[in-house]
Amino acid sequence: MAIGEIFLSSLIQVLLDKLVSMGLDYAQREGISPTLPYKCEKMLETINEVLDDAEDKQLDGDHLVKRWLDNVRDLAYDLEDLLDEFEIEAAQAKSEAESSTSRGQLKRKFPFFSRPHSLTSETKLLEIADRFEEIIKRKSLLSLRKNVVDRSQYTDERLPSTSLSETQFSGEKEEEQILELLTGEAENGNTTLSIVPIVGMGGIGKTALAQRLYNDAKVSSYFEKRAWVCVSDVFNVLDITKTILRSITEVSDEGEDLNRLQVKLKDSLSGKKFLVVLDDVWNENYGRWTTLLKPFEAGAKGSKIIITTRNYTVVSITGASSYPLKELSLNNCISLLAFHALKMKNFERHRDLETIGKKIAEKCKGSPLAAKVLGGLLRDKRNPDQWEAILNSRMWDLPMGENDEVIRVLKLSYVHLPSYLKRCFVYCAIFPKDYEIERDELVHLWIAEGFLMEEDQKIIS
Ligand SMILES: Nc1ncnc2c1ncn2[C@@H]1O[C@H](COP(=O)(O)OP(=O)(O)OP(=O)(O)O)[C@@H](O)[C@H]1O
Ligand SMILES: [Mg+2]
Repeated sequence: MAIGEIFLSSLIQVLLDKLVSMGLDYAQREGISPTLPYKCEKMLETINEVLDDAEDKQLDGDHLVKRWLDNVRDLAYDLEDLLDEFEIEAAQAKSEAESSTSRGQLKRKFPFFSRPHSLTSETKLLEIADRFEEIIKRKSLLSLRKNVVDRSQYTDERLPSTSLSETQFSGEKEEEQILELLTGEAENGNTTLSIVPIVGMGGIGKTALAQRLYNDAKVSSYFEKRAWVCVSDVFNVLDITKTILRSITEVSDEGEDLNRLQVKLKDSLSGKKFLVVLDDVWNENYGRWTTLLKPFEAGAKGSKIIITTRNYTVVSITGASSYPLKELSLNNCISLLAFHALKMKNFERHRDLETIGKKIAEKCKGSPLAAKVLGGLLRDKRNPDQWEAILNSRMWDLPMGENDEVIRVLKLSYVHLPSYLKRCFVYCAIFPKDYEIERDELVHLWIAEGFLMEEDQKIIS
């Protein structure tokens, strides 16, 4: 497996799909009875039925279940290897059949020219079937419950497509305050350039707020030039300078010479009032920060740089006072959750979900990201039992750090993805943070890894 550890349920779903087509195809090709692949498929289904409960119990620290799941995982990987072999054999058989047709009728008259019966594959299949039986026997001792989560209901789940910052944005107080700071004349008295650091934990809404400020009509008419840079982990002065220059001058080929670029940027900004947003800054290196700032001194009074960061050390390097972003109020969390779950800002038309919805919103602990993700998870679900299931998920009880609500919520939403999507999603972990992934390239990588079945590929192409 190319990407290390992945969740078992996703693998099993893929194997089930493969077994149906390839196992029977294999039996037909080898002229053996299809009973064995069929039996394996049934046993895999039996395991799949209890997998959610087993994963839950494993989270609870049940060692026997954990060992059982480890064995299931080993077996699943071996089965996957075997199915890959079947696939190769099938391709070989096909190409041999084609070339024999071009050699005439010889093969039909003399059957001993046909491919030898694949004994190794059959032995491996027998061995896998034995291990399956053993695993099924042990399963019955673990009292695992069947289908505690109905995965099928999640297959059509899609993320909400509304632009939240437009329609449902809370926290106006901070927005107004920073807006005033950006465009108010009083603050702009003597300083040429002011830094405005928006600080707060992950998912609290720093980027969303900066975007709203950046796109605000008052802001765009106040500043002559604006530029947005997604900085992230690597604070590369050359790249950041290039991006800003590109936004401001709309010239795309500026070369690689930092000195030349900085002179050009300085000239372009000279005497102009500008706003630059540096989103998601992690740089703690004072030297790099001051180097980046050099061209900005040429701007007109009132120019601003907004930075968003989770890190107070970053703020101290800028020497500016920070604007900490607070958690959303419970009421705002409730309406955000309702908005994403029910497409309404409150529970007026869904009184049966109100109490439970409020309890779920409390779990978000003021994180808009958490409210949005949970709302998305509950979208179009109108049955209070489904809401109860989310509220009572064991995921909430996992021991985590103080600010880990977001991770908890994201994990919960991950667990509710259908198996085949989990596998594709987990694969994205091979890309670095903030890496721009080309959609088609990613789909091709999924296909190469064997994550997508033929039908999925047809839909995508
Ligand atoms: N005040 C708000 N009201 C409604 N939705 C919000 C609000 N703030 C943020 N969101 C939504 O929550 C999600 C997370 O917000 P955002 O990306 O701005 O967080 P962040 O603080 O920049 O996180 P990070 O530190 O990871 O960059 C986004 O989808 C955003 O649209
Ligand atoms: Mg951000």
